[in-house]
Amino acid sequence: MKQNIILIGFMGVGKGTLARAYSLRTGIYNIDTDDLIESKENKKIKKIFNEFGEPRFRELEQQTANWIETSIDNTLISCGGGFYKVKNIKELGTIILLDASFDWIYNGLLNAPNAKKKLKKRPLFSELPKAKELYTQRKKDYIKIADTILSVENKTLDEIVQELIEIEKNINQKDR
Ligand code: S3P
Repeated sequence: MKQNIILIGFMGVGKGTLARAYSLRTGIYNIDTDDLIESKENKKIKKIFNEFGEPRFRELEQQTANWIETSIDNTLISCGGGFYKVKNIKELGTIILLDASFDWIYNGLLNAPNAKKKLKKRPLFSELPKAKELYTQRKKDYIKIADTILSVENKTLDEIVQELIEIEKNINQKDR
């Protein structure tokens, strides 16, 4: 079994922020599936959606998952909100769901210093009712697929990093 930590969860829940803080604290490298796709295609996610549509983006996510499966271990991987649908998600590592309510996530995005940019780069957040519906649909799937759920609502980044470190310790102990 791979020793990767796979962070899943809804857009804006803080997967990338947590990944970067965790790396600073532990020295473990992190990568992000959206960043991998953007650098491989040399295009922003938004542009990929606009030019080629969502199905093409999902293909690129699957390619990325295949590369992670063959090439990556001992890494923290933050995933785009829909990445959990790749066929081999369970082969990539231990899946940790970052969980919070829709309202908390949305308010967090709105109140971020770079709120406009954060919303603009996420095509599936462009219509609020649709985003909310997507959240409700996905929530069940996220819970089903996760090995562990980490609730992040109303917690500080430091607290969340600490919890992730504890979760990781427990996983390693079980593996031994
Ligand atoms: C998506 C989430 C985005 C990005 C793309 C699609 C989704 O990533 O992969 O816009 O389907 O939920 P974040 O979760 O990092 O915003």
